[in-house]
Amino acid sequence: MVERYKDPEWQNKMRVKVDVNNMFKEYIGAEHGIKSEHVDSLEEKVVTAHQSIEKQYEEGKLGFMELPEQQEEVIDEIEQFANNNRDKFDNFVILGIGGSALGSIALQTALKSPYHNLKEEDGLNIYVPDNVDPERFKSLLDTLDLEKTVFNVISKSGSTAETMSLFLIARRTVEEAVGQDNISEHFIATTSKDSGYLRVIAQREGFKMFYIPDNVGGRFSVLTPVGLVYAAFAGIDIRELLAGAAYMKRICSTPDVWENPAYLSGLLQYLAYQQGKVMSVMMPYAHSLKDVADWYRQLWAESLGKEKDREGETVNVGPTPIKALGATDQHSQAQLYMEGPYDKVVNFIEVKEFHQDIEIPDLYEDIKGVSYLRGKSLADLLNTEKKATELALTRRQRLNNTVIVPKVNEFTMGQMFYLFELETAFVGELFNINAYNQPGVELGKHYTYGVFGREGYEDKKEEYYDRPKKKDKYIV
Ligand code: PA5
Repeated sequence: MVERYKDPEWQNKMRVKVDVNNMFKEYIGAEHGIKSEHVDSLEEKVVTAHQSIEKQYEEGKLGFMELPEQQEEVIDEIEQFANNNRDKFDNFVILGIGGSALGSIALQTALKSPYHNLKEEDGLNIYVPDNVDPERFKSLLDTLDLEKTVFNVISKSGSTAETMSLFLIARRTVEEAVGQDNISEHFIATTSKDSGYLRVIAQREGFKMFYIPDNVGGRFSVLTPVGLVYAAFAGIDIRELLAGAAYMKRICSTPDVWENPAYLSGLLQYLAYQQGKVMSVMMPYAHSLKDVADWYRQLWAESLGKEKDREGETVNVGPTPIKALGATDQHSQAQLYMEGPYDKVVNFIEVKEFHQDIEIPDLYEDIKGVSYLRGKSLADLLNTEKKATELALTRRQRLNNTVIVPKVNEFTMGQMFYLFELETAFVGELFNINAYNQPGVELGKHYTYGVFGREGYEDKKEEYYDRPKKKDKYIV
């Protein structure tokens, strides 16, 4: 049998596209709309950004671009391990945070039933605490049958306080439940091959290990074992996922901005930012994609929010990403998007075909205020509301665009991950910043280490306790 993702006709049918009409002057008006000549005039900047990305890729610095095609052995190993171990467990828990958790959450929400954990026939229950909230984690450990639970501890650095704390607690609790001799089969470690404490612990304990390539940053790592091990356990087709990413990679290989969806969308976001549209809303009209917006929010925020450019000049740039959900947030955020400041770009995601639909029944014919709904379906309603919101925003001269997804499946998810990652890398080039570090979050972490007495952070402990005292008058 030929897999569907190898069939060019099916691929074409499943192609994810970006509709940017409503970013332009013809639709939005001259005051806020972008001129297509402006896009043309930036050809040299686009080509320079493209060349810089290509150069970094060739130098092996942009590992995320290698992932779609260069993981054959890893995929075999992951599939084999998942197939051999899936049936031993009822629960799969991911202990990771940020880039080590959000991709798996996005995959789970997109590709599994919303009530997955309630349905026995859907296989393993999946849990991602993604925080060190004591009530949440304690309840999870109290709820699960730990003899039937496997934990995937994911940390590229192998030292993140949140992840390692949860691991230490889980390690002790599992030991109490299954005994010291049986610990190792309840833990998987996904970390760097060459460094970090998690690697040391995993080796000492004999945990199964998977590796995160050094040249792939946390928020770009969903298509490494970070997301793939969970996906394989959950029965998600990881080959199709990577095929989707590879397909989008081919589409986005051209420097021609009018042919390259990642570059076109990225350039327009960049131009909008220059014109004061400094907020970037992602608003899928499908609950299954709600956590893609959450994943994207981190990708965009940590990659593009930077103090310095590559020359060390202070620039303090970065669009603020906002996640929203259609139609839910029409009743929450939309008023602001329609009438508030002209400081946003709204990025819709529209799904053409839902896996399931429900017809609205023909009831209360005499009540015109509800009978107009009969015979329509929920998918009709959701997509009509999306188009109506899009038109309303456009009429109000609000920049917006739409990522069109034919259907949510592994192939289209793979495309979206690659599209948004490359777009982020490209916008980083346009801003001339390093999109792959996160110096801004280090200071907060270091204060925590200092307060907790971690060796090497004594000066931060001192700074923390020397901080200006708060005045009671300002606490009311
Ligand atoms: O994108 C990033 O680099 C971060 O969000 C990390 O993924 C997050 O801080 C977790 O790091 P680690 O995987 O090292 O525990």
